[in-house]
This record gives sequence, structure tokens and C-alpha cells, in this order.
Amino acid sequence: MTSNSFSSEFGTSSSHFEEDSVICIKQSSGLSGSVRVSGAKNSVLKIMAASLLAPGKYVINNVPHIADVRLMSNLLETMGASISHQEDEMRIDIPEEMTPVAPYELVERMRASIAVLGPLLARFGRAKVSVPGGDDFGHRPIDMHLKGLEELGVSFTNSHGYIEGQVEKLIGGKVLLSFPSVGATENLLMAAVLAEGKTLIENAAREPEIVDLVDFLNSMGAQVTGEGTSTIQVEGVDHLEPVEHTVIPDRIEAATYMSALGMTGGEILIEEARLDHMEMLVEKLNEMGIEINQVDSGVSVTVSKRLKSIDLATLPYPGVATDYKPFLVTLLSVADGVGIVTENIFAGRFRYVDELIRMGADIRAEGHHAVVRGVERLSGAPVRAPDIRAGAALVLAGLAAEGETLVGAASHIERGYQDLVGNLHSLGAEIGFVNPQKN
Ligand code: UD1
Repeated sequence: MTSNSFSSEFGTSSSHFEEDSVICIKQSSGLSGSVRVSGAKNSVLKIMAASLLAPGKYVINNVPHIADVRLMSNLLETMGASISHQEDEMRIDIPEEMTPVAPYELVERMRASIAVLGPLLARFGRAKVSVPGGDDFGHRPIDMHLKGLEELGVSFTNSHGYIEGQVEKLIGGKVLLSFPSVGATENLLMAAVLAEGKTLIENAAREPEIVDLVDFLNSMGAQVTGEGTSTIQVEGVDHLEPVEHTVIPDRIEAATYMSALGMTGGEILIEEARLDHMEMLVEKLNEMGIEINQVDSGVSVTVSKRLKSIDLATLPYPGVATDYKPFLVTLLSVADGVGIVTENIFAGRFRYVDELIRMGADIRAEGHHAVVRGVERLSGAPVRAPDIRAGAALVLAGLAAEGETLVGAASHIERGYQDLVGNLHSLGAEIGFVNPQKN
């Protein structure tokens, strides 16, 4: 069956992505052509939160149309902001008066909502934010966010599921994080930029998304140095200004297409992708047999033979990101040999493994470790997407599985991908949406 006849059967437009949508994938080989990655989800959500720091009109470019961006827009709107999002340009208008409250209904749907805590405290001296619960990654505390903000003078109370922070005037200080948490580093940065005096964040996270946030803050008038290293210094300023900013490309989305090619073979161009944000991953993929090169318009990827197994461990940046891991486990599930995967960031992040096993993968996962024995082929089955990246990984597994794979709960995938199905289809994959009403 050609991908065209497949698309007329199932349709590939992302408008089909509804609450219970299902993605159907058939075994596909030899992907070719080019695909463009969107702006980074994990960058844009924090940049949107940072806009709370100063009233006025912002223009943010390269903003993907994904569910998490819509949720963050809703959150800012409930506080009083006006937002429009046309093509990939977002305009945010932040008023003088706002309601510094992040309600349960929104925080519960997206943990990254906690990113408004730092900017609200810096701008209004008070904030009330629903305490985020655990999720599919397991238990996810926010103790480091709170402890760090306390070092800058904030006092917190916790009642009825909400955390309330109050501070007369933020005062810079020294914060030593017990782990380089991305979210805690970002919250502290967004508070410290308007604090009185100097703040030092030690053992800070070094992710490219942190550097993007600092670029945004510095263009607003903040004085931050050391971003991208584990010691960040912030010299507090009195006043920030709204600006225009372009979000960096999404390295996790780029990794998804690299991994897709690992499942099918072929040669593709990933436009806009930046290898300098994913060096360790590229080293690992090279070891497995995926050829990756930066070219003028993006990154070229070639796979011409069965991949080889490797061992790998997730680590804070510049290590292999935990968000890449579901793709890597999926690649190992059909590679030649045995690979040992160690998860060092989130204890419970192996849930999709049971779904891969249903598709014929040979994986033993326990605690922080998984042993993946590559099999010759997977076999298509109905599975469910447990979260954004694990859901995408199951789609990738479907590309190398005999017969038909149906990935249910696909709305999880839409939280982080503007059009994964359409993009894979344009590369020649046999993939489309199943309309649940027709079942
Ligand atoms: C961000 C990313 C997520 C990525 C993760 C790690 C966003 C929206 N999400 O999540 O995709 O997988 O970084 O790269 O940007 N921790 C604590 N206490 C805290 C904060 C974190 O114990 O106060 C622990 C977490 O449970 C986890 C580890 O620290 O074990 C790292 O978490 P963190 O870097 O904060 O992840 P997020 O910012 O939530």
C-alpha cells in the first residue's frame, strides 16, 4: 500500500487529534525527504512564563502549535494576559494588574505551570500556585524550587493543595542545588533577575533551554552570566522591558526523526536542527550506526544497515537526556545485540516498556535499569501512549513492526508535537489517524 492510499484511508491532518485519537502505523522502510523541527517546547513554556516579569507587548517567534503551549496560554490568560498565536508567531500582552494565581485545573494538566512561581513572586511579591502532583514519570517534588526561593527571602505556606508565597523584597543570595534541576534553575533565575543584589546559583542545570531563557531575560534587560555552565550569576535589576525573541529548535523532536530513520533506514534532512545542542546523543547514535552531519539547512541523517546495540545512561545536560531514552530503548529493541540502559533522572520512567514487550520486544526493566535484547522484528499490536515521548517512541516502534500498530491515547503525543504524524507521513512512512467514531 502506498502512503497516499493510506492517507486517504486515515487522514494525516493534526486536526484529527482529539482526546481519544488513535494513530495507525504500518511497517515502513527507506524514509526520505526533509522535515522541519518546531521551536523547543521546553524553552517556549518558560519564556512565556518569564513574560510575566514585565508589563507590555511581547513577540515570540518559532512557537509550536501544541497542547502544552495552549495550556500555558490559558494559564497566562486566567491571570489577565492577552495572547494570540498565528502561524509560528505568538503575541503576548501583559497588563499592569494581574491575578497571581495558577489554578488546580491547569497545573494538574501541565506540570511546567510551576514555572510561573518565580516570575509572579518577583513581579508582585506574592503567588498562589496549585501544588503539582506526580505523573507518568513517577514522584516529582518541587522542594528545590521552594528551598531556593526561600534563600531569596520568600516565605511559603501550603494549604488546600495550594502553595502560597510571599515576599516584601527579593534579596539575592547563594543557592546550591542538590541536583541540577531544570525547573528549579529556571524558577530561581526568573526570581533573581528582579531581586536586590547578586544571586549565585550553583550546580545549576546547563540545558540549551536554560541558555535560551537567559538570552530572553538578558534581552529584557536582566544581567545574567554563566548560563550553560553549572554556576550562574545574576545581578538583580529594578526594571525589565518586553522584547521580541525567537525560540531555539526542539532537540527532542529532532531526535525523534533521527530515531525514526534508525527504525526504517533511508536518508533524510532535518531542517533547523542544531547538533551543538545534542552532541552526546549524536555520539551514541553514531556508535549504533546512524550517520549524522550538520549541513547548511539543518542536519542530514543516513541509515543503511541494521543498528548495533550499545549501553547508555541518562544524565543532566550535556549527558544523554532522559527525554531521548524512550527512542533509544526502541532503537535497541531491534538492534543487533544487547544494550543496558540506566535511567539517572526519573526513577519510574520505564512504563512504555510493557507496551514494547507487547509488540515483541525483549526487555527486562527494573528500578533504574533496563536490559534490551534486540529482536529481528517487532510485531504490530494495539498499545497506549503513556506520555509525550514514550507515545512517540511507540509510533517509532510501529514503523519497524510487522502488520499494523495502533497507538491509543495519542492526545499525549500532541502535547509536544505539532504534527508528528504528518511529518513522518511526508517522509514516506505509512501512518495516519484512525477516526475513533468509525470504529
Ligand atoms: C524538565 C523537562 C523534562 C525533562 C527534565 C529533565 C520541561 C517542561 N520539562 O522537567 O522534559 O525530562 O527537565 O531533563 O522543561 N527534583 C527534585 N526536586 C525538585 C525538582 C526536581 O527532587 O524540586 C528531581 C526530579 O524529581 C527529577 C530530577 O530532579 O528526579 C530532575 O528534574 P528536573 O530537572 O527539575 O525536571 P523538570 O524541570 O521537571
